[in-house]
Amino acid sequence: MTVIILPLSADDKTVKTALKSYEAQGAKNFSAEKGKQMWTQEFTVDGEKRTCATCHMTDLTKVGKRADTGKAIDPMSAKANPQRYTDINFIEKWFKRNCKWTWGREFSTAVIYSDDDEDEGYENYREKNQVKKGFFSGSSEAVPATTNAVFKKECGECQFSYKAALLPARSWQRMMSDKELADHFGEELDYDATTKQELLKYMQANAAENVGNSKVTSAILKSVKAGDAPLKISELSYIIRKHDDFSAAELKNNPKVKTLGNCAACHMTAEQGNYHEDNVKVPR
Ligand code: HEC
Ligand code: HEC
Repeated sequence: MTVIILPLSADDKTVKTALKSYEAQGAKNFSAEKGKQMWTQEFTVDGEKRTCATCHMTDLTKVGKRADTGKAIDPMSAKANPQRYTDINFIEKWFKRNCKWTWGREFSTAVIYSDDDEDEGYENYREKNQVKKGFFSGSSEAVPATTNAVFKKECGECQFSYKAALLPARSWQRMMSDKELADHFGEELDYDATTKQELLKYMQANAAENVGNSKVTSAILKSVKAGDAPLKISELSYIIRKHDDFSAAELKNNPKVKTLGNCAACHMTAEQGNYHEDNVKVPR
């Protein structure tokens, strides 16, 4: 779980209590600086560039405006708006929703990012919480879960929880070309122009280079040569290296796996975009 601290007023009681409880669960090194940076960090979700400030403004004392409905939002600063951050359930509910909308990821709690020593704080937290609670973690091993219904439907039927972030944008571009669609791993895919456009838009906006750095996305990008546009995730050198314990025959002879492409057979949290080795169980 990635933990970020919101740029809140520091002397707020509810927030302090929340931080204590996150701390008790292993999070540490809370950083307002990092929170401030995350506030305006841009993510592309469903083809739109989004930040927290898109609705809440950069100046937290100003009235915000919902980008989805156009409605006004009271200022986020607790100084300008004393009602802010007084109810932990309200905070966590909106935090979860907003993170999903803004970052394409769901966080179950308002969480605090650690600046120094960040892996250690995060590792502690993860160990105690991630698998147990089963929520998506913005962890370094994770890529965003699929948020687009068309992608989910068209690409989820015969592939197993592939995420757009598992390939670079140029691979998706190539995959959606007429030439490749005519022979998509032996099958002809015939999309109408609207579907094709929506798929491509989603794939590119959520491709490895466009979803922020994680261990997985950096490794994927590193394992693809400039100019190459591979079509098979299971043939990326990084993915091959990570799975070189398994022989093709072994996979094929396991009726619950069959091929390496069946990511979700072993990665219990593949659906959420999480490939951390702690969440792997090879079916027997
Ligand atoms: C699409 C518009 C939108 C975006 C973008 C957005 N929010 Fe919100 N946020 C809301 C709305 C609407 C509320 C609830 C109404 C209110 O608090 O006035 C809210 C409330 C909150 C609250 C509860 C505050 C309280 O009073 O307890 C937190 C925390 C929050 N947002 C954090 C974030 C963070 C962090 C981001 C960026 C990841 C973000 N929001 C992005 C619309 C948005
Ligand atoms: C037969 C079971 C199996 C299948 C199928 C499988 N994996 Fe894995 N995967 C593993 C195991 C076991 C590891 C842990 C390897 C290690 O680091 O020791 C792993 C590691 C990984 C890692 C590295 C995680 C880390 O923490 O370093 C990634 C990323 C990953 N797999 C992605 C995928 C993707 C994407 C697919 C589908 C294309 C896939 N895997 C299919 C078993 C599987």
